Amino acid sequence: MATQRTFSIIKPDATAGNHTGAINSLIEKAGLRIVAQRRVRMTREQAERFYAVHAERPFYEELVSFMISGPVVVQVLEGEDAVARYREVMGATNPDEAAPGTIRKLFARSVGENSVHGSDAPETAAEEIVQFFSEADIVG
Ligand code: GTP
Ligand code: MG
Repeated sequence: MATQRTFSIIKPDATAGNHTGAINSLIEKAGLRIVAQRRVRMTREQAERFYAVHAERPFYEELVSFMISGPVVVQVLEGEDAVARYREVMGATNPDEAAPGTIRKLFARSVGENSVHGSDAPETAAEEIVQFFSEADIVG
C-alpha cells in the first residue's frame, strides 16, 4: 500500500473542548503525519460546498450550521493507507457505536457533534484538500 493523503477536520465541538492537541496526538500515534494544518472559521458557503453531497439529507442544515458555529482545524494527513487508517482512528460516525480509544469515543457528544471529519476515499480526499489548501501549503 503506497503513501496516501487524507483530509481531516477537527470540528467545532472538539476545538471548543480544547481537544486539538489530544486529537493530533492520536493521529500521530497511529503513524499518520500532519503535513498541513490551519485553524479557520468556515464560511457558510465553504461548509455548504464541502457537504454538498449531503444536501438532500434531513440533517444538512443542522450540519452546516454546526460546522460554522466555531473554529475548526483543517488538516492534511499523510501515511500508508491514510484514508482507512484515519477512519479507524476516528471511530464510527455515532460515538455510541465507536470503538474504545477512538477519537469519537473519547470526545464526541453525538452523531452530529462528532469531533472529526475524515475523507472516505482517496478521490474524495483530493477533492476536499483543494478546497482548503494549495500544494505549497502541504509540506511532507
Ligand atoms: P465525516 O467524516 O464527517 O464525513 O463522517 P462520516 O463519513 O462518518 O459520516 P457521513 O459522511 O455519513 O456523515 C457526514 C456527517 O454528517 C457526520 O460526520 C455527522 O457530523 C453528520 N451526520 C450524519 N448523520 C447525522 C444525523 O443523523 N444528524 C446530524 N445532526 N448529523 C449527522
Ligand atoms: Mg463522510
